[in-house]
Amino acid sequence: MKEKSIELLNAAVADELAAVHQYMYFHFHCDDQGYDLLANLFKRTAIQEMVHVEKLAERILFLKGDVDMTVAEDVKKIQDVRKMLELAVQMEESSAEDYNKWANECSQNADSVSKKLFEELVEDEERHFNQFDDEMENLKKFGDNYLALQSIERSKQIGGGGE
Ligand SMILES: [Fe+2]
Ligand SMILES: [Fe+2]
Repeated sequence: MKEKSIELLNAAVADELAAVHQYMYFHFHCDDQGYDLLANLFKRTAIQEMVHVEKLAERILFLKGDVDMTVAEDVKKIQDVRKMLELAVQMEESSAEDYNKWANECSQNADSVSKKLFEELVEDEERHFNQFDDEMENLKKFGDNYLALQSIERSKQIGGGGE
């Protein structure tokens, strides 16, 4: 039971680390282009994925395994906002799918704590999915105005003596 759980938990760590890297890369580029709303969303989500790594690592160590810290994927150098959101939606969808499956596997191996952890993560990934999906819908609905508005907001803040 322990070995299988440790393997699944480490696979999740690898996916979470890939998400942290990918979302921070998106954060840097959205920030650079002046899209504050999206830049903040990517950063906030990256931090939540980092917390997932921590929870997974704690469970792995409790089971007397070790945290591999392998990163599942290289960062994709995407700078187009539509493509960023498409990839983010895909990543969240596949994490939720995997964690649902892995929760069931842990439950079959009589490891209910790891099962519960995967279920908690599914909840978060579904929320992330929704947030990215909403932004994709906004972008479709309002087109480039949606992005222009974010840049204008920043200019107003700077011009108004804000941050
Ligand atoms: Fe996550
Ligand atoms: Fe996520």
